[in-house]
This record gives sequence, structure tokens and C-alpha cells, in this order.
Amino acid sequence: MDRLIIDGGRPLVGTIKISGAKNAALPILVATLLTDEPCVIENVPATLRDLKTTFRLLESLGKRVLVEGSTVRVLSTGSLKTQAPYEIVKQMRASVLAAGPLLARFGLVRVPIPGGCAIGLRPIDIHLKGFEAMGARRIADQGDIIMSAPRLQAKPITLRFPSVGATQNLMMAAAATPGRTVIKNAAREPEIEDLALFLTRMGATVSGAGTSVVTVSGVSKLKGCRHVVVADRIEAGTFLLACAAARGRVRLQGACAAHLRAVIDALKKAGAKIRHTKGSVDLSMDRRPKAVSITTRPYPGFPTDLQAPWMALMTLCTGFAKVTETVFENRFLHAAELGRMGAQIAVSGRSAVVAGQERLSGAPIMASDIRAGAALLVAGLAAAGRTTISRVYHIDRGYEAVERKLSGVGASLERLQ
Ligand code: EPZ
Repeated sequence: MDRLIIDGGRPLVGTIKISGAKNAALPILVATLLTDEPCVIENVPATLRDLKTTFRLLESLGKRVLVEGSTVRVLSTGSLKTQAPYEIVKQMRASVLAAGPLLARFGLVRVPIPGGCAIGLRPIDIHLKGFEAMGARRIADQGDIIMSAPRLQAKPITLRFPSVGATQNLMMAAAATPGRTVIKNAAREPEIEDLALFLTRMGATVSGAGTSVVTVSGVSKLKGCRHVVVADRIEAGTFLLACAAARGRVRLQGACAAHLRAVIDALKKAGAKIRHTKGSVDLSMDRRPKAVSITTRPYPGFPTDLQAPWMALMTLCTGFAKVTETVFENRFLHAAELGRMGAQIAVSGRSAVVAGQERLSGAPIMASDIRAGAALLVAGLAAAGRTTISRVYHIDRGYEAVERKLSGVGASLERLQ
């Protein structure tokens, strides 16, 4: 298993190019199941582990996937299967997104129930209730969920929580269901807007994406199209926090400031100087951050995916900062690892209080999920001495060429295989 060796304490100076968003590319690739025509998707972070798993998922269902750099062509090879393999679903929970397109097109789908993971139980009840509201019947069978509906119906659906995945699954099902489906209490994340754009290019009419009411007017036959994936706001946010912790001056090329408003506001309160243009965000930081408490919320609130890296930044703050996680029930595994580097963090239930320290010291530490891994990166870049991060495969699920990108701005980072 690979390890990352970081010699920390060096300021980050220079420009980093932000990749396409993993969490936008993933549902968009799955949405190609809605058509037999070729789709061309650009700006895909195709080297990420989760993207490679998505390509395998599509191929296991009968698609052909051709990857050239960050451009992905998805072609038809004949008929599609309606059963997602457990081997793939267990590696990547988002495979459950295949249910919506397959159910809408073929009236039947069989998907293994994804188990919990390192950050929470993560049930899929909101997805399933949505399909039921559209007329599907649900039959559980030995760890799989089988849903059938000779024909889905366009109906109003109200989500009990604005789940990102459920909103995407239902939007895809609705796109291939003639009539007008209204999804209330929908998730508002930028990745939802990107999927809406893709579905519109395929021939559906989608309005309200980015608000809590999304309306999809579906058609019986969707077509192939070309699409460029939106920039990864979580990758960009992670690099902003890394630079705020290690200090220095970075420009994030391609990052969209509007998608990072909650994080930028918190960073400004912590003392970072931030400027942005249409296609980039610049941050400079020359001192210890002030303490800023945050609470994670669905978009446009502070993103849960940046909670761990925020906590890493706050370990160096001048005071006490409270970090509250409301989206997932168990997303504090990074706290103990940060403690190995000298951080003072007291976790109680869904909150953690961080007592800022003058400095962190490098240590051997272990990533437990993508964003916990990102927190360890942020801490390792800022810490004095050498940090060795093991289980780097978690980081590789969500950050493309991380050592190349960070070395390019002056970090000392090496991968040991
Ligand atoms: C997406 O996961 C992202 N994944 C996650 O990113 C992100 O953390 C999350 O949204 C929240 O922003 C992808 O886009 C592939 P949810 P998703 O459904 O869709 C509960 C990362 O680090 N819930 O909005 O699975 C659930 O348990 C990843 O890149 C139900 O109870 O998130 C959680 O507590 C990790 N029932 C909350 O809602 C359901 O049916 C939010 O989940 C669905 C969700």
C-alpha cells in the first residue's frame, strides 16, 4: 500500500489547476445509461479511483468506456443489464445511482444494498421512497433491492432530507419518464446543477436546479451529448485550507468562488486574504489563523466534505474553535490522528472543540476516508518535521495527482510504493 511522506512547514506558493469535480462526473457518467447514443464527457478526473470504479460499473452493465486524458466517451455495445454487481457497489456506494436510469428505462433494477462506511450508516431510504412515489414496487432479496415498475409515473416527490444522491437518482429517473416530476426539498449542491445541465443536453427539460424545488419534464427517448464537468469545489477548498495552514500564496486556476462561499467567508474570518476572478481564486496567509467555529449543513452551508480539513486548520488557531457535523453521524475519525501530531481536540457527540496550538509535529498517521485523508494532508503540510500518511488509497479516491499538484507549489511530498 502506498504511503505519502511529507516534510512539512514549507509555505505554499504558486498556481494549482483544479480538476473536474469527482462528485459531478460520477452521476453524469451514470446518466449515460439513459441513452444508447454516444456521450462525450470532458474535464473528468479520470485517474481517480472512484472514476475508474464508475467506468467498471458502466462496463459491467454493458457500456463501452473510452478514456483519453480527461475526456471520456461512453458508447453502447447492445443491450444493457439491469443488475449492478456487488463487487462494484461495495467499493463505491454511489453505484446505487444506476438504479434511477435503469428502472426508468427497463422497468426493473437489482442493486445490492450498500453497507455503512467510515463516516456513517448512509441508508438509501430516501432514494427508494422517491421511486415508490413514482409507482415502483420494492422487493428485497438476499441483500439486494429489486425494484420494478412497468412504467414509472411523473409524480410530486418530497424528500425528508435534501439528500444529494437521492435528488440525482430521482432526477435521472424523471428525465426518462414522460411528464412533469417535481422534487421538493431537493439538494442544492452545484453537482446537482451540473447533472441538470447534462440531462437538459440529453433532451429532458430541467428547471430549479440549485434551488430546493427541481422540476424535470421527462421524455421517452434521451439522446447522446457532449458536456464539460464543473470544477471540483472540494478539491479547491482543500487546497485553500492547506495554504491557510502552511501559509503562503496560491492561485487556484479554474476554481469557482461562488461554489465556495461558506468556506471563503470562514477563511476570511480566520484572517486569510482572498480575491477571486471568474476563473480563479487566490488566497494568501501570513499568520496563525483566528479561531472560527463552523457547523456543516447541506449546500449552501459549510460542506461536510471540508469539515475534516477545516478541523486540521483550526488545530493551529489562536483560541478555541467548535466544529459541529450535522450531515453524517460519524465523521470525526481524523481527530484522533490529528491528536498524534499534537492537536488538542475534544470530541463529544456531533461536536468537537479544538484548542489551537502554536505548532503541530509530524508523525506517522493513517487516513480513514477521503476527506479525513485530506485533513491529514493539510496538517502534514503545516507541521514541523516528517509526516507519513498510510492508507493513501483513500486520498486517491478524491484527489488527482495530489503529490504533483502540491509539489508544484513548493511542498515536499513523496509517494512511497
Ligand atoms: C454525496 O453523498 C457525496 N458523494 C458525498 O461526498 C458528500 O459528503 C455528501 O453528498 C453530502 O454532501 C457523492 O456525490 C458521490 P447524501 P450522498 O445522500 O449522496 C443521509 C466525498 O467525500 N441519507 O446527501 O451519499 C445520509 O446517511 C463524499 O466525496 C439518508 O438517511 O450524500 C447522510 O447522513 C463522501 N437516507 C445524509 O443523508 C438516504 O436515502 C447526506 O447524504 C440518503 C441519505
